[in-house]
Amino acid sequence: MSHLVNKKIVLGISGGIAAYKCAELVRRLKDHGCEVKVVMTESAKHFITPLTMQAVSGEIVSDSLLDPSAEAAMGHIEFAKWADLILVAPATSNIIAKMAAGIADDLLTTLLLATPAKVAIAPAMNQQMYAHAATQANLTTLKARNIAIWGPGKGEQACGDVGAGRMLEPHELVSLCTTDVEPLLLAGKTITITAGPTREALDPVRFISNHSSGKMGYALAQEAISLGAKVNLISGPVTLKAPSGVNLVNIESAEQLLQQALTHATQSDAFIGCAAVADYRAANIAEQKMKKQGDELTLTLVKNPDVIAAVANLSEKRPYTVGFAAETQNVAQYAKGKLVNKNLDMICANDVSNSDVGFNSDNNALTLYWHNQERELALNSKAALALDVMKELAKRL
Ligand code: C5P
Repeated sequence: MSHLVNKKIVLGISGGIAAYKCAELVRRLKDHGCEVKVVMTESAKHFITPLTMQAVSGEIVSDSLLDPSAEAAMGHIEFAKWADLILVAPATSNIIAKMAAGIADDLLTTLLLATPAKVAIAPAMNQQMYAHAATQANLTTLKARNIAIWGPGKGEQACGDVGAGRMLEPHELVSLCTTDVEPLLLAGKTITITAGPTREALDPVRFISNHSSGKMGYALAQEAISLGAKVNLISGPVTLKAPSGVNLVNIESAEQLLQQALTHATQSDAFIGCAAVADYRAANIAEQKMKKQGDELTLTLVKNPDVIAAVANLSEKRPYTVGFAAETQNVAQYAKGKLVNKNLDMICANDVSNSDVGFNSDNNALTLYWHNQERELALNSKAALALDVMKELAKRL
């Protein structure tokens, strides 16, 4: 299970456009097993409704310091003590200024003064407001008080400006919550992860590929980053955004994957082969688009290199090598066979005959095999499973 399990997080939402991302943030925190209570400022309610936040958090949203029934259920001081972490996201320039000044004029600002818990903020505002000397001075004040400042990111803003001031993405905030409660188990380690499908060209417009979404590999990369590793993510074509901080290496074919894998593997402590590598490729790639001819087409395919076996059989600088096995039957037997035949140190097996897990799903269930040990990881989000895999890996590096 994720090390965020049972962590008590108060999410304080202030009034910025990025508030619309808070539903996703809460959902992801809950996927990791957190208990989340949401507190909203009055202006936050203009950007996302308390009802939405109640639906995703499963808890009544708190917004008033002076609400007798809420106070009777859990007084604001008790509430402030309940939290392991208070995360203010988005944190507008206004709430940052209030925090710096110690103003407590609503429930959120009061909790922030009353809490003994760790406090983090995710600034989100127009780039000019962020750059303003007043905001910068307030942030310096908060940093000096050990308040964690997460972000902001750079890029295009809702107002059309470009610059620093975007709230970090929900998955980035979750990973920062994770590192906040767990030591950086992979600090100083380099991990190379392959993810997604490969594409094997038939001609300039056609290819052979498979349904791999890359979600598991990307989740592994995200969790490795959150545990402090340096990550090379060698990825086939997927629609996912790479976690911030990874070195993304895009490839298409198995042969390109092999080349990049060997380059990075010898400089890595661990190599995780999560890519769904096509077993075969066309013997000859047609230079021009193939034309229709007759009712049948015979393609000659040749075997692709086994990337992970090549890494696992490196004679020098061989990294700890972890494979994946997606099977539809005899899962344990086939997975253990691959562990031995491919010379791996560990293999993560999943039963893809169950449509609730595996390809394209956000969930998965894995059994991890080593040569003398095994461990089952029950159905869970890919993020939570990826964290468990990374923690097992960290014990062995
Ligand atoms: O042999 P199979 O494809 O079932 O094995 C799966 C494992 O081997 C995965 O870790 C996958 O990334 C890796 N693999 C590889 N190169 C291939 C085929 C599979 O690295 N050509």
